[in-house]
Amino acid sequence: MGYNSHSLSFGLVLSQVDPQLPSVVLAVLLLIFLAITAILLCSKTRFYRSLLKDYKEGCYEALMKTVEARNHVTEGHANRMQEMVSILAAASGCTDKEIHDLRLLAQFHDIGKIGIPDHILSKPGPLNEEEYCIMQRHCAIGYRIALSAPDLTHIADWILKHHERWNGKGYPLGLKESEIPLACRILAVADAYDAMTSDRPYRKAMDPEKAVNELIINAGTQFDPDLVILFISCREKLNNIVF
Ligand SMILES: [Fe+2]
Repeated sequence: MGYNSHSLSFGLVLSQVDPQLPSVVLAVLLLIFLAITAILLCSKTRFYRSLLKDYKEGCYEALMKTVEARNHVTEGHANRMQEMVSILAAASGCTDKEIHDLRLLAQFHDIGKIGIPDHILSKPGPLNEEEYCIMQRHCAIGYRIALSAPDLTHIADWILKHHERWNGKGYPLGLKESEIPLACRILAVADAYDAMTSDRPYRKAMDPEKAVNELIINAGTQFDPDLVILFISCREKLNNIVF
């Protein structure tokens, strides 16, 4: 029975009570009636909230799969990324809220690739200069998409800056070292490692030891050197995700 029918039947009971009943009894009955109505209203609101949450999660899941498919990354890339950034963020001393937001970034950092032409995304080889310039736009496109999605607005700035490099030679802003948000520096290490150790249509996955070596070689230029050290110290936990 819905809360409306409950309320109606209870209201009917109240309207039929003996007018001689003491006012304190009527007040108690009224309070009980109001409490039941409030409880039923809350449970209904919770039901719609949970329905809306399921719907939103379904939309985000579909969006994530679309980005993965267009980006030609392997199945589960976003999920592996979420686990990796969580481990690195926890080891960096991030709060639960920061870890939660970093997981969102891991899922949606490349959402702007939706706006990049297929012939560039699918090119089976290195991009030429013009194509590379177009590809770089995915940070700004992603930033604008995130600003328009209430659940992603607070990570829009990270989406914009996720291709910055430790030495200032990244894009789109050329930020360096601590100018780059920690979340973006963590993502850069995890994303590079996952990309190197995953199969792509145009190349086979790199051996994990070789991939770690690449991280070490690029520490201090592409990557935050402290985070590369942290990555190596967390490898036991990371092994459970990526191998
Ligand atoms: Fe990207």
